[in-house]
Amino acid sequence: MTIAHDGTAFDWTGRTVLVTGAEGFIGSTLVDLLVARGARVRAFVHYKPYAEKGHLKRYLADGTGEVEMWAGDVRDAGRVSDAVAGCDTVFHLAALIGIPYSYDSPGAYVQTNVTGTQNVAEACRRWGVRRLVHTSTSEVYGTALTAPISETHPLQPQSPYSASKIGADMMALSFHHAFELPVAVVRPFNTYGPRQSARAVIPTILAQLHAGVREIRLGSLTPTRDFTYVTDTAEGFLAVAACDRALGEVVNLGTGQEISIGDLAAALIAASGREASVVTDPARLRPSGSEVERLLSDNSRALAWASWAPRVPLAEGLRRTSDWVATHPHLFAPARYQV
Ligand SMILES: NC(=O)c1ccc[n+]([C@@H]2O[C@H](COP(=O)([O-])OP(=O)(O)OC[C@H]3O[C@@H](n4cnc5c(N)ncnc54)[C@H](O)[C@@H]3O)[C@@H](O)[C@H]2O)c1
Repeated sequence: MTIAHDGTAFDWTGRTVLVTGAEGFIGSTLVDLLVARGARVRAFVHYKPYAEKGHLKRYLADGTGEVEMWAGDVRDAGRVSDAVAGCDTVFHLAALIGIPYSYDSPGAYVQTNVTGTQNVAEACRRWGVRRLVHTSTSEVYGTALTAPISETHPLQPQSPYSASKIGADMMALSFHHAFELPVAVVRPFNTYGPRQSARAVIPTILAQLHAGVREIRLGSLTPTRDFTYVTDTAEGFLAVAACDRALGEVVNLGTGQEISIGDLAAALIAASGREASVVTDPARLRPSGSEVERLLSDNSRALAWASWAPRVPLAEGLRRTSDWVATHPHLFAPARYQV
């Protein structure tokens, strides 16, 4: 049961809920929470020729039909509109999220993240959904000018990814201002946990440790990040979807704790029970103006408005993630290691 900001219970039972990016890391975790609460989930998954369903395979296999699969592409307005029809709530998570690839292909980020969000907002307006929850990212803040970072901190596009998410956030919020679309923006800080791809720093380090690598090669070790365990992040999405105060607003989802990448690597070595040293690999450094040096959330709005607070301490979350990576080596072939 999600508790709304006024303390009343918000009942998901029987609500039709669309999740875009549903087969992904955070999206599939959100689907699990919604199914457990009795929602009728419509999973918008990126169409791929070989019909992969990412982390939703269990819903195909168990035959219960509790998750309705919609293959599509958020760049296709017609397909998005068909998927949104009849929904109570829409969680929009689909996005291109890798920062390095955004240096190579910024146009793809504009099309998927900005135009895709426009298509979702248009469809929600057309069909009159109760609530659209749009997903932002702490990357839009860039290196903290003041810390902790509240929702009023300036936005600094230090990568094309960040720029595309700023554009997407503004598009979603413009639909609130111009058309009174009931949209709320959640802004997760770095999220980690089971199912995250090898692209991200925590699974990359863990995969190498569990493969027996003795020298972990990373980019800059000094930047700090605020890491939230994935079920806490997904609970934040549900809390904001139940919170009328968040309409037309942005809500940070973070722990209010920061750790440097170097200290994180040391914590992961401890969590994995392996031995290794950490070295800086110049090939993995980001362009200097693009490296976000510090991200630390002010999460007081999420607590005050949506009664949300993270529950899983970092050490416990890292241990769970380490166990998951150790038991899924097939997802982490050596060629996939990249930070
Ligand atoms: N992981 C984090 O630390 C983090 C932090 C802040 C914000 N976010 C945001 O959370 C959301 C989910 O990220 P994630 O970490 O689960 O990443 P992910 O890559 O696992 O999920 C993104 C999903 O979007 C889908 N997608 C991509 N292009 C699409 C298209 N054209 N049409 C339809 N679907 C498409 C992908 O197939 C994937 O399932 C993103 O919006 C991301 O910007 C993530």
